[in-house]
Amino acid sequence: MILKALKLTNFRNYGSLDMVWNPGINMIRGDNAQGKTNLLEAIAFLSTFSSFRKSPAAELIKKERDFFLIRSCFTGNQTEHIMNVAYSEDKKYLVKLDGNTKKRIAPLIGSLNTVIFSPDDLMLMKGGPEERRRFIDAEIIQTSPESHMVFSRYNKALKQRNNLLKEMREGRELSDILNAYDRQLAENGASILLRRKDLLERLLPMVRLSHRRITGGSEELMLSYAGGIEGYSEKKHTLEQWKSAYEEKLKETRSEDIRRGSTTFGPHRDDLRFFLNGDDIRRFGSQGQQRTASLALKIGELELMKGQRGEYPVLLLDDVLSELDEHRREALIEVINGKVQTFVTDTGNRQLFTRCSEYRVENGMITAIS
Ligand SMILES: Nc1ncnc2c1ncn2[C@@H]1O[C@H](COP(=O)(O)OP(=O)(O)OP(=O)(O)O)[C@@H](O)[C@H]1O
Ligand SMILES: [Mg+2]
Repeated sequence: MILKALKLTNFRNYGSLDMVWNPGINMIRGDNAQGKTNLLEAIAFLSTFSSFRKSPAAELIKKERDFFLIRSCFTGNQTEHIMNVAYSEDKKYLVKLDGNTKKRIAPLIGSLNTVIFSPDDLMLMKGGPEERRRFIDAEIIQTSPESHMVFSRYNKALKQRNNLLKEMREGRELSDILNAYDRQLAENGASILLRRKDLLERLLPMVRLSHRRITGGSEELMLSYAGGIEGYSEKKHTLEQWKSAYEEKLKETRSEDIRRGSTTFGPHRDDLRFFLNGDDIRRFGSQGQQRTASLALKIGELELMKGQRGEYPVLLLDDVLSELDEHRREALIEVINGKVQTFVTDTGNRQLFTRCSEYRVENGMITAIS
């Protein structure tokens, strides 16, 4: 996919920006706090309608203004699209795709596919399980937008069930309602488990391949899903079988759940595990090994999207090139050069690409320098 043009109004520190981009590499240079990450955040917003920095949309509005507007022109599968996204405190979201106002934005997630790689991702191996769950779920939603509903139904049922468990802990008899929530949780939770397992199945070979390339095959990376239902696999069991096993599991943990006032079983508790030559990388991996694995994971994500959509997503690299050593940097550049439209930020003057467009950002204004 190619982001051809981008206009920003009142987005973060951009008052008004109007740019046409290179379909290859766009190098964004600038000192700290000038608007480099803000630009990537705006581009990523077009694909997920949320901030990759986890900021609420209201924070993205330029100070002392009451709305922001992102206008874009991009191509996907040889078709050109115009997408405009506006957000204001009172009207919330207004999204137009090719001139049509869309009532629901969830189905538009992934109209423009992006992969963002920032220093936080280098911590994916080290951080808590919620980071890794976020990674895999975001990937699922971006490649199959209809799954958004499954996640929101699951989260809603989980919240309601937890509230109910707390009431039951106080001694109220509400088993009938709990049974109903269990069914909703099982239905959506089983679907999440299957989607995660399916995604991992497809992601794993890509990640292992790119890891082998970066390390020259000296180390074996493995990735597995920690959680799910013991003895159940996506290949041997149907969705219906998963659902009933899931409901069974909720029954087994019911008295413990009431005692705790929260749900102990389910995808909200699961994790991804990474192993290097058989050892858990989170506990035994060096920082460099963890970085290499994170990089391999991101390249795997890029290749997976290419496989799924038939073309590469737009790649956003925020400050990562300076965090990678030369060897890993070259491995990344080899993957993207000439194939993937990339936006790269850098505070210095490193010349990393032989062919690219360069821009300078200063206080929310961007000028082309070559
Ligand atoms: N809602 C907002 N309205 C106006 N300015 C904002 C808003 N949100 C953030 N900023 C400003 O944007 C600037 C930070 O921009 P950004 O994070 O893009 O910097 P950067 O160029 O990536 O810097 P670094 O090299 O340190 O990462 C800060 O000066 C901050 O005050
Ligand atoms: Mg930044």
